[in-house]
Amino acid sequence: MDKKYYITTPIYYINDVPHIGHAYTTIAADIMARYKRLLGFRVFFLTGTDEHGQKVEKAAEALGIHPREHADRMVDRFTDLWRVLNISNTGFVRTTEERHKKVVRHIFQKVFEKGDIYLGEYEDWYCVPCEAYYTELQLKDGACPDCLRKPEKLKEESFFFKLSKYAEPLLELLEKQKDFILPDIRYNEVASFVKGGLRDLSVSRTSFQWGIPVPGNERHIIYVWFDALTNYLTGIGFLEDMDTFNTFWPCDAHLIGKDILRFHGVYWPSFLMSYGLTPPKHVVAHGWWTIEGQKMSKSLGNVIDPHEIVKTYGVDEFRFFLFREVPFGLDGDFSKHAIVHRINGDLANDFGNLTSRSVTMIGKFLQGKIERPEAKGGMDDFVEENTMRLINEYQKNMEVFAYHKALQSIFEIVSILNKYIDSEAPWKLAKEGNPRIKTVLYNIWNSLRIVAVLFYPFMPERSQQIWKAIGIGRSIEKVSFDEEKRFYLPDDIATIDKITPIFPRIEV
Ligand code: MSP
Repeated sequence: MDKKYYITTPIYYINDVPHIGHAYTTIAADIMARYKRLLGFRVFFLTGTDEHGQKVEKAAEALGIHPREHADRMVDRFTDLWRVLNISNTGFVRTTEERHKKVVRHIFQKVFEKGDIYLGEYEDWYCVPCEAYYTELQLKDGACPDCLRKPEKLKEESFFFKLSKYAEPLLELLEKQKDFILPDIRYNEVASFVKGGLRDLSVSRTSFQWGIPVPGNERHIIYVWFDALTNYLTGIGFLEDMDTFNTFWPCDAHLIGKDILRFHGVYWPSFLMSYGLTPPKHVVAHGWWTIEGQKMSKSLGNVIDPHEIVKTYGVDEFRFFLFREVPFGLDGDFSKHAIVHRINGDLANDFGNLTSRSVTMIGKFLQGKIERPEAKGGMDDFVEENTMRLINEYQKNMEVFAYHKALQSIFEIVSILNKYIDSEAPWKLAKEGNPRIKTVLYNIWNSLRIVAVLFYPFMPERSQQIWKAIGIGRSIEKVSFDEEKRFYLPDDIATIDKITPIFPRIEV
């Protein structure tokens, strides 16, 4: 069976520098991509940048350069950060690429020919200084929600997508695919929005230039969201390389933040159904990060630059923290105190000490050589059985993006191992010349080897270091999860004797 998996991040607006929120979605996708590869899947992992629209046009204008040049400058910020964060994406889309524009125009044209896009008039409240339309509901006491000035009622010619026609099909989809949107609260949000009835959607603008013109009516620019969502097709070769496209579509998971749920849970499947493509299997929405208890904003000056965090705490520590601290799906708060607390408590104390103690004991009591286990007894069976049980738990949780629970399972193994060492007291066994010393250290070694594999999607580099410390020279990213999840004795273990702490404590 050909196991394949397609996962995406949103494509990021280039009018902003990448911050912790962007890093979060991208790392979340990277974790799943790495995990699926361990399970033997062929993974397509797509990310990219959203480069059209009025904001980009304006930002470029302010700099006195062409929007294309502005985009070229900004895109490196993202690709640089992904390199630093060890992101293993296999594709990258920029919406200004020719191949993408071709796909967007094609989809627009076909949906138009089908009669699902028509020319009409858009009427709403327009704020002239902000150059933006608002619905009645979005206004704040009748004023523009951004600048608080009085908007005017304006009409503009616009193409519309017949979203109203897709309310029923969407409800059927939601009924049939109960896990179409994860977690449940987000599913309910979308379901009740659709049940409330859908208005047709304006899918073109005439108020700015920077975008993809409507085929046959170039005065109109295709709405940025119609353009942006289509990247998920472009990225896997739609129109250009249909073999790859057909291998990976429908997408397994679009990872997004909760703020862009409607676009992915309502508009996107409707566009796809209209064109005649199967909607994605899952849309997974996560929560938002605040910083030291406050909303992140440029004006507050509290925007977190991931480069800074990585420099101070380490890449893997940052990746770990984001998913250990907050259940995926809920909002979380980033604080220096919290990250230091996690690194010192979970990584340095609980796990780091366990690893150091184990390596030291193997060096001292077995001269660095793991051997076949001898007499069984004590907590041996308990350790092996529970490690197996917790691996299962881990897998169940990984499958549904419950990363924090998967990490909890790892720490349960760690805690069992710490207890095991205390109860079996290897130093006593060694002193007595009891052959059980081999069994106990064999079990610990095996659990540690597995723990490193379980950590791998979250902390790829640290996991490799752990393997090295316990005498395994193989590349951890190439192993098979199913092979590694049992207790066994490989014949290529190097002598194990010394370890430099993998997770040093951070002094405050
Ligand atoms: N360009 C659109 C997406 C188009 S996808 C077809 C966009 N870009 S964005 O750059 O503004 O945001 C991208 C992602 O970053 C979103 O998933 C958003 O939820 C996430 N985050 C932005 N700020 C965030 C936090 N403070 N916390 C967590 N994630 C947040 O929207």
